[in-house]
Amino acid sequence: MRKPIIAGNWKMNKTHQEAVAFMEEVRGNVPSKNEVETVVCAPALFLKDMHDKAESSDVAVGAQTMHFEEGGAFTGEISPAALQDMGIAYSIIGHSERREMFNETDESVNKKVHAAFRHEITPIMCCGETLEERESSQTEQVVRTQIEKGFAGLSAEQAKQVVVAYEPIWAIGTGKSSSAEDANETCQTIRQVIAELYDEQTAEAVRIQYGGSVKPENINSYLAQEHIDGALVGGASLKTDAFLQLAEAG
Ligand code: 13P
Repeated sequence: MRKPIIAGNWKMNKTHQEAVAFMEEVRGNVPSKNEVETVVCAPALFLKDMHDKAESSDVAVGAQTMHFEEGGAFTGEISPAALQDMGIAYSIIGHSERREMFNETDESVNKKVHAAFRHEITPIMCCGETLEERESSQTEQVVRTQIEKGFAGLSAEQAKQVVVAYEPIWAIGTGKSSSAEDANETCQTIRQVIAELYDEQTAEAVRIQYGGSVKPENINSYLAQEHIDGALVGGASLKTDAFLQLAEAG
């Protein structure tokens, strides 16, 4: 059985004070991590203090991106070694906003996934098609390429630990969520691609999240699908009550 994983992606929202207050409020109220993994991916600035607040509770803290190099002349970037040193055990990698606005490619995503494993960070690797690609029936091919390139060079043991987030770009922040059946179909394709790259057993172990306008009102329809093992949630993860309802659904 795959353990559900519910992750919030705060994007560039909240102040430090709000972030710490959020953790104070949720830390005692999320479900047991033995049953559901709950993660808040927050701006890097707040991670240390949020992690300290979350200490020994069932909610974890994650980054929204990281560089693939340990350190060096990369102005403004976040070192995976520094994340590891702070005890941050998750990072989103290759979110569509990073791909679109910050020039991330399947190649850099792959390097980051490898870097995450070097630093004991679980990668939440994003994939998903644009509206144009969907309308021209390219969803399967786009996602296949993202998975093949993103997983390149990973051992089966590493592949099993990747969390894939399938986020159709047209469903992000638009209120237009994908139907649960359509999302499941693409998540099934993702699992199939992983089975082709490795084997059935590896593919069955990988957790696949759906993301795109997920909220407490619709999360159950996604989690009821065979190939959807959790959600990556933007807007609805910013409020404690909604976040707790989402975690509870997991
Ligand atoms: P929304 O839940 O706000 O649509 O954002 C989805 C997302 O991009 C999560 O990474």
